[in-house]
Formats: sequence, structure tokens, C-alpha cells
Amino acid sequence: MQLIFHDDLVELHDTQLNTNISIDFVSGALAHRHQFGGGRGQAIAKAVGLKSGNNPSVLDVTAGLAGDAFVLATLGCPVTMIERSAILFILIENALERASLSETFTPIIQQGFKAINHDANDYIKEQLLNDSSAPDVIYIDPMYPDRKKSALVKKDMQILQRLHGEDDNSAELLDNALRYARKRVVVKRPVQAEPLSDRKPNTCIKSKKTRYDIYTIEKM
Ligand SMILES: C[S@@+](CC[C@H](N)C(=O)[O-])C[C@H]1O[C@@H](n2cnc3c(N)ncnc32)[C@H](O)[C@@H]1O
Repeated sequence: MQLIFHDDLVELHDTQLNTNISIDFVSGALAHRHQFGGGRGQAIAKAVGLKSGNNPSVLDVTAGLAGDAFVLATLGCPVTMIERSAILFILIENALERASLSETFTPIIQQGFKAINHDANDYIKEQLLNDSSAPDVIYIDPMYPDRKKSALVKKDMQILQRLHGEDDNSAELLDNALRYARKRVVVKRPVQAEPLSDRKPNTCIKSKKTRYDIYTIEKM
């Protein structure tokens, strides 16, 4: 893997797949989803409790390529992303920087769309000492085993998996998230998968391939 720094764009070159990836909020697939993606009616929006008059703050503790966080931010949530991979963090920061130069996206950045390069378990443990910072919602999208198989199809996910490694700390993330979030924890799962850590959610919201397990702490 190699990072390539252009004038304003940072790309990650994967030598094995001979492909480049970058994160682009302003044009491409994410921007298209922003424009045509179903707004607050989509499952992820319902899962975090977005309603008119309620834009919960979200801590996305598994930022990855920032797709889910971007959807929530464009729908009005103040979103903080945490990503422990320094390489992915550089791609995220670069996407935020480019978005901040676009008139359409400046307000989204200003409403509090930002990223932190940290291990989320350590971050939450540090923040627990100062719980005035607690977000309404913590969002977890672990690298589940089924994702590893389907990653053979999707290049982006294959690259993410290699950067992520085999260290699955999602059970600990759920434990810590439940101690820290004010209102709910949302875990993204494949529709047929067992709940994370076999811990039954209070409720779930399903789309075609994905299920969002919701652990309620306080009603919204
Ligand atoms: C499946 S991906 C998330 C994909 C993301 N939802 C998206 O839309 O692109 C999981 C990401 O979580 C990150 N991750 C896993 N454990 C973490 C931790 N303890 N702290 C911070 N990031 C973590 C991995 O490095 C990986 O990038």
C-alpha cells in the first residue's frame, strides 16, 4: 500500500489490486447518494433516531471510508468519526478538507462533521471521565466475517480489510459504547447475522441486506 499525495487529493494505491482509492464527498457515489438517496426515510436514518426536530449527535466509532458517517452528516446530524487506521484517517481528513472548500458542503462540516485518529475503545474510556461530551448515539459498523467473504467482490472493502487486520474488537466496542452513549447504540449487521456478542437488541430496523440493531439507553 502506498499513499500518493497530489496537489489537493490523497489516494491510497494498492499494489496487490493495482488500484487507487480515495474518499470523495463532493462528487462520485457518496454525493450521488446525498442527492438521490432517500433522505430521512432510509433505514440508517431511522436507526439513529433522526426525525423532524431531532438531529441526534453521532459518534461513529468505526469510520472506515466514512460512507455511513457522511450519510448521517448530510441528513443533519453532528457526526464525529473515529478511525484507528492512520492511513484511512489521512484519506478521511483529505475528503473533509476538500468538502470544506465546496459551498454545498461547508455547512455540513460547520455543523460538526469531523474525524479523530484514535482507537475508539481507548477514546471512550478516556471520555468516560468527562461524560458531558457523551454523544446521543454511538454507531458501530464492525468488519464482520461475512463482510470478509463479500469483500472478495468489493475492492474498497478488500483494501479496508487488509488495513484493518484480523483484530476484531467489536464486542469490546459494544460494551464501551453502551457505557458512554446517552440515548442509543446502533450496530450495523448483515441481515441474517446473529447480533453482535449474541446480545439481543431492543429493536432493529432492516433494509434489503442490512440490519441495524438498536440498543436503547434512553427514549428519543
Ligand atoms: C467495516 S469498516 C466501517 C465502514 C464504514 N461504516 C463506512 O461506511 O465506510 C470498519 C472500520 O472500523 C475501524 N475500526 C475497527 N475497530 C476500531 C477501533 N477500536 N477504533 C477505531 N476504529 C476501528 C477499522 O479500521 C475499519 O476501518
